[in-house]
Amino acid sequence: MKISIIGTGYVGLVTGVCLATRGHQVICVDKQEDIVKRINEAQPTIYEPGLDELLEGAVSKRNLLATTSLMDAVKCTEVTIVAVGTPYSEGKIDLSQIKQSVREIGDILKNKDKYHVVCIKSTVVPTTTDTVVKNILEEASGKKAGRFGLAMNPEFLREGKAVEDFMNPDRIVIGAYDKKSFNTVKRIYKDQFKAPIIRVNLRTAEMIKYASNGLLAALISYSNEVASICEETGGIDVKEVLEGVTLDKRFSPRVGDLLINPEMTTYLMAGCGFGGSCFPKDVKALVSFADNRGYSAEMLKSILKINETQPLRLVSRLETAVGGLQGKKVAVLGVAFKPDTDDVRESPALIIIKELLNKMATVVVVDPIAVENADKVIPANASSLCYSSDYKYALQDADAAILATSWPEFSAIPAQEFVMLMKNPVLVDGRRVYDKQAMEAAEVEYIGVGLAEFLP
Ligand SMILES: NC(=O)c1ccc[n+]([C@@H]2O[C@H](COP(=O)([O-])OP(=O)(O)OC[C@H]3O[C@@H](n4cnc5c(N)ncnc54)[C@H](O)[C@@H]3O)[C@@H](O)[C@H]2O)c1
Repeated sequence: MKISIIGTGYVGLVTGVCLATRGHQVICVDKQEDIVKRINEAQPTIYEPGLDELLEGAVSKRNLLATTSLMDAVKCTEVTIVAVGTPYSEGKIDLSQIKQSVREIGDILKNKDKYHVVCIKSTVVPTTTDTVVKNILEEASGKKAGRFGLAMNPEFLREGKAVEDFMNPDRIVIGAYDKKSFNTVKRIYKDQFKAPIIRVNLRTAEMIKYASNGLLAALISYSNEVASICEETGGIDVKEVLEGVTLDKRFSPRVGDLLINPEMTTYLMAGCGFGGSCFPKDVKALVSFADNRGYSAEMLKSILKINETQPLRLVSRLETAVGGLQGKKVAVLGVAFKPDTDDVRESPALIIIKELLNKMATVVVVDPIAVENADKVIPANASSLCYSSDYKYALQDADAAILATSWPEFSAIPAQEFVMLMKNPVLVDGRRVYDKQAMEAAEVEYIGVGLAEFLP
C-alpha cells in the first residue's frame, strides 16, 4: 500500500521504517528539514536498537522516502497516518500539532478526488478524533466524513524496544468511523503482522491507549508506595515482597513445570519512578480530561503524586547518609528515563539532578547516550553540573553516587570500583540492581529503594 506519515519523531519514524520493511511504499513527512534530510540519507534521527539497519534497507530499496511536502505525500498515497506530538502543557493535552496537521491534510483533500483515509496514531484524549479531527477535516476539505475515511490506530510501542514491538505487536486496535475506513487501515496490517485486530469506535480506541498506560503507571506507583512503607518500617525488602506477590499464579501461571513470568510483572518493581514521553503526560492528560467532564480521577492523581515524590525520597535518604549535600560531589548514574534510549523526557533522573543542585551539591551525570539531550534540558555549568559518558570520571572522588537508570554497564560496576574511585563510597541504588551483601562486604554504604535497616 502507499502510505504517508505526518510527523517523523519516535513513533512516525519507527512506523514508517517498519511498514516499509514489510513491503509498503512509505512517505514520511516532517516540517523539520534536517529530519527529512537525514532520513533520506538513511541516518536515524533517534536511537532505537535495530532501527539503523532497517532504515538503510528501506531507503536503499526505495520503499521509504522523506519530504517536507505534505501535498506530494497525501496526493500519491491512500492513507495518511498522523504521528505528530501531543504534549501536555498548561494543564491539558496540547492538540495544536494535531489540529494544524489535519487542517493541512483537509486542505489537500479538497482537491483530491480519490478516497483517502486519515488515521490518527498520536495519543489523543477520547472524543478528539470524532469531534476535533473530524470537524477540522470536514471544514478544510469541504467534504463530509465518509467521502474521506477516518480512523484511530493507537501505538503501543515502548522506546528502547520500538522496532521489536512494532514488528511483533500483541494487538492492533483500529477505531474506525465506518467500515470502509476500517477495511482500508486493516489492509496495512493484515497478512504482514501476526496479531489480533480489534475493531472499535474512534473514542474507544483512544481510551484503550490511555487505560493501558494508566494501568502500567499504576503498577509502578503502587510498587513505589509499597517500597516507601517498607523503608519506613525497616527490615522488609520490597524486592522480596514484590517477588512474593508476583508468584501468585494469577500473575505468574505455571504450565506443567514451567513458571511463566509475564513481562507485566516487570512493572511491579520499586525504583525512581516512571518517566518518558508517554506515561507522565498521558496520565496527566487523562486526569485533566476527566476533570473537565466533571469526574475527579483520584487514583490517577495519586499515581502522579507518588511518582513526583519518589525521586525526592531517594535524594533525601542520600542527604541523610552523607550528612548534608552542600558542597558534596554526587555522581548520578544514568539520565535516560530507561536503558536503551537517549530520551530524557520526564526522566526521574532530571528531578534528582535538580534536587541535588537545589541542595547545593556538585553533580556529575553520566550516561552512555543521553547526556546531549539532558544538557539541553538542564545545561551544564562550570560550578555545579557537568556531563560525561565515562562512569569512572563521574565516580572519581565523589562523596556519593545514585543509580537512576539501570544501564547494564552501570549494573556491572564492581563493588571494588566504587571503593577505589570514590572519596566516600555511599551508593543509592534507585533501581535495585546491585547486590547489597557484595557492596557491604567491600565497605560500600548501600542504600536501596524499598530497603532499610531493621527497626524495632
Ligand atoms: N514516543 C513513544 O514511545 C510513543 C509511544 C506510543 C505513542 N506515542 C504518541 O505518538 C505521538 C508522537 O510521539 P513522538 O514521541 O513520536 O513525538 P515527537 O515529538 O518525537 O515527534 C513528532 C514529530 O512531528 C513533527 N510535526 C509536528 N507537526 C507537524 C506538521 N504539521 N507537519 C509535519 N511534521 C510535524 C515534529 O517536527 C516531530 O518531528 C504522541 O502523541 C505520543 O504520545 C509515543
